[in-house]
Formats: sequence, C-alpha cells, structure tokens
Amino acid sequence: MLSVLAANALGAAQQQAYGKLSVLQAPGFSTNFPIPAAGDLHKLYSPLPANDTGCEVLLKVAFSSVNPSDIHPTMAPSGHFPKPMGSDVAGTVVATAGPCKRLKQGDQVWGDIGANAQVAGSGARTKELGAYAQFATALEGQLSRIPAGMGLAEAGSLPKVALTSYKALSWYARFGSRPNGTRVLVLGGSAGTGSVAIQLAKRGFGISTNVTTTTSAANFEYVASLGADTLIDYHTSDWWSVLPDGSMDVVYDCVGESGTGDRAVAKLRAGGSYVTITGELASAELPPQTEQHMFINSDTNLASAPLLEELARLAVVGAVRMPRIDSTFSLEAMDGAFNRSSTHHAVGKISIAVPQPSRETEAAAREAWRR
Ligand SMILES: NC(=O)c1ccc[n+]([C@@H]2O[C@H](COP(=O)([O-])OP(=O)(O)OC[C@H]3O[C@@H](n4cnc5c(N)ncnc54)[C@H](OP(=O)(O)O)[C@@H]3O)[C@@H](O)[C@H]2O)c1
Repeated sequence: MLSVLAANALGAAQQQAYGKLSVLQAPGFSTNFPIPAAGDLHKLYSPLPANDTGCEVLLKVAFSSVNPSDIHPTMAPSGHFPKPMGSDVAGTVVATAGPCKRLKQGDQVWGDIGANAQVAGSGARTKELGAYAQFATALEGQLSRIPAGMGLAEAGSLPKVALTSYKALSWYARFGSRPNGTRVLVLGGSAGTGSVAIQLAKRGFGISTNVTTTTSAANFEYVASLGADTLIDYHTSDWWSVLPDGSMDVVYDCVGESGTGDRAVAKLRAGGSYVTITGELASAELPPQTEQHMFINSDTNLASAPLLEELARLAVVGAVRMPRIDSTFSLEAMDGAFNRSSTHHAVGKISIAVPQPSRETEAAAREAWRR
C-alpha cells in the first residue's frame, strides 16, 4: 500500500512540460518533468539583482507564447536538467516562499522568465526559462499582476515583446525626453516586438509622433490599427530608397536584414537614435550627433517588475495591447509553434495554451514545491 501511495505521489508531482529532460536529449514534450522546488532559483543563480526580495513564487501557468529566442535558448552545460523551456508566463500564484512583499497566493501575474543568468559558483552563462510547463517558478521581482481587463492568453503573449520594445524606446531611443513631432521608423511593424513598438511610439510617452513602418501589404490594415501613419510594403519598395536621408529621429529594427545598420543611421537627423534588437549595427561612421544601440532584453529580466507595472498601466489605457494572436498551440504541439515562428511571417504573437492540472495535481505540486 505504501509503495502504491508513494508511486501515486511521485506520479502526481510530475508535470507536463516542453523542454530537455537531460543534457543530451533533444527538446520535446513529456509528462515527466519535475515540479520546481522553493528556493531553487536562489540556489541556482548568482548574483541576483538588487531588487531581489528573496521571495520565489510557484505559478500555475495558463498561457505562454513563442519568441524566436525560445527555440534555441542558451542552457547551462550541466547540472540544470530536466529543464522546461519558454519565457513568457501568465498564470496564477499557487504558492510563495520567502519574504514576499508584493505577491500572494491567488494573484494572476505576467512576466518574462527567459532571463540570462549566471550559474551560482561557476559563473557560467545560462538562461532561467521554465514557462512551457504547467508549473513554473519565478522571483517575485520578475512578475507583476496582469493588467485589469486583460485575459490570460493576451497577458501570456506580451511580456518579452513589450519589455523589449519598451526598453528600446525608453532606455535606448530616449523617448522620455523627445519632443512632439518625433519621427519614428519601425522595421517589421507586424512582428510581436514591432506591434508593441508602434503602439508605444504613438501613445506610450505622451508626445505626438509620426510612425512609419514596414510590413507586407496584407498586414497594412493591422499596422494602421496599431497607429502607424505611413506604411511601406517591403516586397515592392525598399524603405532606404523611399525615405529621405536625415528624416527620422528614431529607427527601431525588429527584422535584422543584412545592411540595415548603415542604411538606418543614414536616415537619422541630429539627435537621432538607431536601435536594433537583431544585431545589425552600422559599420560606417555615424552621422553627427546620432547614436546606435543593440541590446538583449533577457540581460535585464531578473528585475522586470517595475517595467511590467508601467506596461500594465499603459495596457489599461489602451496604449499597449496584443490585438493579434497569430495562432495558438498546446504544449504537446510546440514543434508546430516553433515551425510557425521560424517562417518569420507570424503576425502579432503565437500563443501557447498550457493544459490545466487537476486539483490533485495542483495539491501535489504545492507539496513538491515545499519539499
Ligand atoms: N534583442 C532582444 O532582446 C530581442 C527580443 C525579442 C525579439 N528579438 C528579435 O527580434 C526579431 C523580431 O522578433 P518578433 O518575435 O517580434 O517577430 P517575428 O516573429 O520574428 O516577426 C515576424 C513578422 O516580421 C515581418 N517581417 C518579416 N520579414 C520582414 C521584412 N523584411 N520587413 C518587414 N517585416 C518583415 C513579418 O511580416 P510578413 O508576414 O509581412 O513578412 C511578420 O509579421 C527576431 O529576430 C527576434 O529574435 C530580440
């Protein structure tokens, strides 16, 4: 009898997830991933950011989404397997551990747990991950409550693209100090990152702007609905040919075509910023009084809560939403989701619906978390 109970308990404390069961195994779906344990994150990663409260939460994940970097994430060479993949989470706090200041059991939260981190002790570079699972663990400082009026599917689609585009415009393109009349070019306006960037550029910083974007003609209605003023079909026109040199204050690249850096900085006027999230910086000398930046959002995602709170505030006033879910896949069908993302023609975001556990499995997950 005892052994049956033990076997049941063990079975119930496992979860459905998509990731790697061992260092050598290819990523895949399995029902045999372990439930995270309280304190794991503080044991595994060091240093943690200054805003770390010591609190970890266990989430019942409802939705996640696909970002291109989720397909082949950086993982520690050893010692961290089994490991579910995935970055974006929207779900419910089912247990907390440590001195939690902001979050409690029952809160519905969103966040991006695809954070670059260092392995405690060795300092090796790794990535936190864990969103493609029924239960995920996160630092309190990585999460905030989902915006009022937003459903879990939309909340699970937004964190990484919203954080990335907010940082691009606010930190790097210095939108907070730009005047009315700022002219912005968003390359790839129908991408997840581009969709958010158009909205933020139009309504996120309290200034009037003129936004030009590139996409296919089939997506014109969509990007215009986000607020874009001037639309360029990249199949029939080269933006670098049709836009005059020195005509933009900000160029934000969400596409990463070869040659973009040099072409983008030529479009900047004095005071202008070129920001890329795909790596294509200018190699030529920059025009006077212009700047360029490339950054990785995941480098600063162990401490995202204040930005998520600002994004939640903007979402409530309609200044940042994800109006288009390109397609929805379940955890078992992650390969299909990755294939769709790899076409680079998804519009908005690809959503991942996570199967909801039974009450018994949830209770077993809480037990496993406290072990
Ligand atoms: N540095 C970071 O921290 C960071 C964070 C997030 C994402 N990223 C990177 O940013 C890029 C965008 O990612 P994402 O998830 O937002 O979107 P995505 O899925 O890569 O973008 C798909 C969209 O891009 C459009 N597109 C494709 N080629 C285009 C072109 N030549 N010109 C204009 N639009 C084009 C497609 O529209 P059509 O169907 O019309 O072609 C489609 O709507 C990826 O390279 C991703 O890895 C970097």
